[in-house]
Amino acid sequence: MGNKYIFPEGFWWGSATSGPQSEGSFNKKHKNVFDYWYEVEPEIFFDNVGPQVTSNFYNSYKSDIAMLKEIGLNSFRTSIQWTRLIKDLETGEPDEDGVRFYNGVIDEIIKNGMIPVMNLHHFDLPVELYNKYGGWTSKHVVDLFVKFAETAFELFGDRVKFWATFNEPIVVVEGQYLYKFHYPKLVDGKKAVQTLYNLNLASAKAIERFRTLECSKDGKIGIILNLTPAYPRSTENIEDLKAAKIVDSFFNNSFLDPAVKGEFPKVLVELLEDDNVMWESTEEEMSIIKNNTVDFLGVNYYQPRRVKAKESNYDDSLGWMPDKYFDNYEMPGRRMNPYRGWEIYPKAIYDISINIRDNYNNIPWFISENGMGVEGEEKYINEKGFIDDDYRIDFFKEHLEYLHKGIEEGSNCFGYHTWTPIDCWSWCNAYKNRYGFISVDLKTQEKKIKKSGNWIKEVSKNNGF
Ligand code: BG6
Repeated sequence: MGNKYIFPEGFWWGSATSGPQSEGSFNKKHKNVFDYWYEVEPEIFFDNVGPQVTSNFYNSYKSDIAMLKEIGLNSFRTSIQWTRLIKDLETGEPDEDGVRFYNGVIDEIIKNGMIPVMNLHHFDLPVELYNKYGGWTSKHVVDLFVKFAETAFELFGDRVKFWATFNEPIVVVEGQYLYKFHYPKLVDGKKAVQTLYNLNLASAKAIERFRTLECSKDGKIGIILNLTPAYPRSTENIEDLKAAKIVDSFFNNSFLDPAVKGEFPKVLVELLEDDNVMWESTEEEMSIIKNNTVDFLGVNYYQPRRVKAKESNYDDSLGWMPDKYFDNYEMPGRRMNPYRGWEIYPKAIYDISINIRDNYNNIPWFISENGMGVEGEEKYINEKGFIDDDYRIDFFKEHLEYLHKGIEEGSNCFGYHTWTPIDCWSWCNAYKNRYGFISVDLKTQEKKIKKSGNWIKEVSKNNGF
């Protein structure tokens, strides 16, 4: 039978991980906020599993990358750890072993016929920069990030042609300063807002630097955003619609608009000014943001967000939070991934495609993460010892069908990356939920291709399914 969903020529079929979630902290010169948090509160991490070994990519990257080739991927994203590449955080001077390692990884990806996509920040702020300067609330840290970025561009820009400045920067804002799921787990709206601005500035400044370098001439630079469209409880209730608009402006468009259009959403700016929590900025910085928009966009999509007008009482003792303006809405009958507690709603990928087409200059973009985390996958091991993860294949197919529809209607999407190629460490959830095409036995580090790995190989070969 012929395939029904064929994707544009040269489409990226790939997968993504990050340095801190796959490498293990072997030989790193600095600790990031998660390394440190695990040292002081290991019990927060599922089964007490920390970042020391993760999936051992630091030691096994050659055979791991060979497995990615084996399952037919043509592109692969990981991240360069600031805490591994840089020896001197103030000057950006690189560490010899960090350089050796990332050179090895990049060369190996290319040797195996895949396009390397390198991201520069995946929640992994060096903890020293938090202790010394207050982390992302500090503009000095913004400038140190640019030095790190420049070092990476200079070292690897001859071979890496696709860069991302940040992965899911809004998650840093949420995790560190609003909802306490990243160290230093504070609730401080003012710091959250400054961090949101500083991360946008850091991205634009890194892009500005990138474009001045000879080694970047034929390279492209983007940002990876988790877009979780806000759907109102009712489209007829004006208060629900207002709540959804505010949620979109804070959680999605606060990075999407500056990254693509060089300006912050008006709704957000007005609201922050009215509430007296506006970030500190200068005209010069705003013009850097204006003039250094991205070449492409990566979109991580896992779940939608459903919201309604505020009905519960807002706890003022928390100070300013965006939650003043909305309540989350548990839509009756929503379909859930029970392990991760996230709603499954594939149509949102289509809505995102059309939003980018119509409201964001139809910028080139790709799905940079999409995936399904499942706990206890051992129960799906077949008689040959491999995991039959049909649920994951179904999940991907449903999302790809909607992506295909968006592309058919003109959205400029050039690829689909899943999260993640090889089961990896997931922050506080550690190895609770597995996402990979390839399983990892944590005790032996044995890696085996799941049924979904064989499936993606066929999809990649046929450029569709
Ligand atoms: C994305 C992140 O939010 O989702 C990854 O970029 C993360 O780092 C992935 O691992 C899956 O989420 P989680 O929380 O289940 O690991």
